[in-house]
Amino acid sequence: MGTSFARSFALLALLCLLLPCHGKGKLSTKFYAKSCSGVATIVRSVMAQAVAKEPRMGASIIRLFFHDCFVNGCDASILLDDTATFTGEKNAGANANSVRGYEVIDAIKTQVEAACNGTVSCADIVALASRDAVNLLGGPTWNVQLGRKDSRTASPSAANANLPGPGSSAASLVSAFAAKGLSARDMTALSGAHTVGRARCLFFRGRIYGEPNINATFAAARQQTCPQSGGDGNLAPFDDQTPDAFDNAYYTNLVAQRGLLHSDQELFNGGPADALVRKYSGNAGMFANDFAKAMVKMGGLMPASGTPTEVRLNCRKVN
Ligand code: HEM
Repeated sequence: MGTSFARSFALLALLCLLLPCHGKGKLSTKFYAKSCSGVATIVRSVMAQAVAKEPRMGASIIRLFFHDCFVNGCDASILLDDTATFTGEKNAGANANSVRGYEVIDAIKTQVEAACNGTVSCADIVALASRDAVNLLGGPTWNVQLGRKDSRTASPSAANANLPGPGSSAASLVSAFAAKGLSARDMTALSGAHTVGRARCLFFRGRIYGEPNINATFAAARQQTCPQSGGDGNLAPFDDQTPDAFDNAYYTNLVAQRGLLHSDQELFNGGPADALVRKYSGNAGMFANDFAKAMVKMGGLMPASGTPTEVRLNCRKVN
């Protein structure tokens, strides 16, 4: 008995070394209750200012959290700047000239450091900020699990390998999320973040000029600012009706074949996700609930054990 228990434990420990552990039980909503009780208020106020100044920033911060968590866990690895001797994730394919909001995280960190020096990780700041971003844009709120640490490493190759691209099929989206312990339902709910924010023409050109499952009026409208050649960086809203409102319009758009990216429309294209997309399109409350749960689950992704970590003092560089 004892030996088999020890064996299973050793096996689990070995698995944890090889795979990211999903960190159940390690995080707590009260993690900073004694050490930095004001952190949530600081994050909320900086986020409120940033979103008031530019609503898209809310979207950008939500995406920043996703791109942090999917690459070796929510460990603020995405925030590390490249140096002469270190190449991080910022310039990896899915992030370069695309992920934004780093200055907002810096502004939060400066205030949090002034209030509670060396206490709150950058990874926790991103988790809190993304919760606030969703809520400030009109979406749900939830209790954020806290206690993450910041990694002293980053992985451009994992960023390139783990983050799904806009040309993905439904099956590859499901498997990219499954690789992180997230279900097809989690994936479908989390994709609803594309109810806010903008995408560049180069990512949806193929869809608006070539795909059959697109609403013709929508395609024509998008073609106005996304020519067949040139204009790669021109932006379009994911949701052109309520571009900055965190609502369930992503799903009503998909049902109307008004998904912007190929990968978006894959969730409503005669496949297994169709039924849930239809439900979310008719039930904003169900979407809000599932989205919040899935964000907590994604926020539980941890770096592999053994990864060197710390509470960074400056989110852009290791201590
Ligand atoms: C399911 C697979 C996903 C794919 C293929 C995907 C792909 C993309 C692409 C190509 C863009 C536009 C980038 C650019 O133009 O530079 C984008 C933007 C965005 N993504 Fe995703 N994404 C996915 C899932 C998610 C998830 C899970 C979230 C958050 C929970 C998210 C949140 C966002 C947001 C909010 C934006 C707009 C950002 C802004 O305006 O700055 N995405 N995504």
